[in-house]
Amino acid sequence: MNQNRTFTMLKPDSIEQGNMLPILNMIESSGFKIIALKYKRMSKDEAEKFYSIHSKKPFFNDLINFITRGPIIAAVLEKKNAVEAYRNLIGSTDPNEAKNGTIRKKFARSKGENAVHGSDSDENAEIEINFHFDNEEIFN
Ligand code: RTP
Ligand code: MG
Repeated sequence: MNQNRTFTMLKPDSIEQGNMLPILNMIESSGFKIIALKYKRMSKDEAEKFYSIHSKKPFFNDLINFITRGPIIAAVLEKKNAVEAYRNLIGSTDPNEAKNGTIRKKFARSKGENAVHGSDSDENAEIEINFHFDNEEIFN
């Protein structure tokens, strides 16, 4: 298992508010190398697969509508212990609980519309990277 890679998505709220470049800048200036990048809109089917772990949660429908309402930026990030390092950079799911200096503290509006996604384990990072990218789209 590769411990130095994680997957992120800049969610539609980030794109709508013109925060694409400030967030990518924050990621790079925190020492992550962006080794794959894609601008795309997820279909409902893709979104339901990607977030299938949450399919029984009360917020699932809102989450699917939100994540598919506009384009996202999908990216693969490289850094030592990338999953943990990136979860620290993005901060808590709810921006009201996120620490100063985190992406969600700065850019998220609510627990649902919270600017970015970050993988929560090395295993899920690998699954999510393979969900969005072919091997030849990753450069390192
Ligand atoms: P993510 O997977 O997007 O990195 O976020 P996370 O681990 O911090 O949070 P998770 O529990 O995995 O939830 C996935 C996404 O679902 C939306 N959500 N809304 N309204 C709510 O109570 C609620 N809870 C979760 C958020 O967009 C969250 O990031
Ligand atoms: Mg999660």
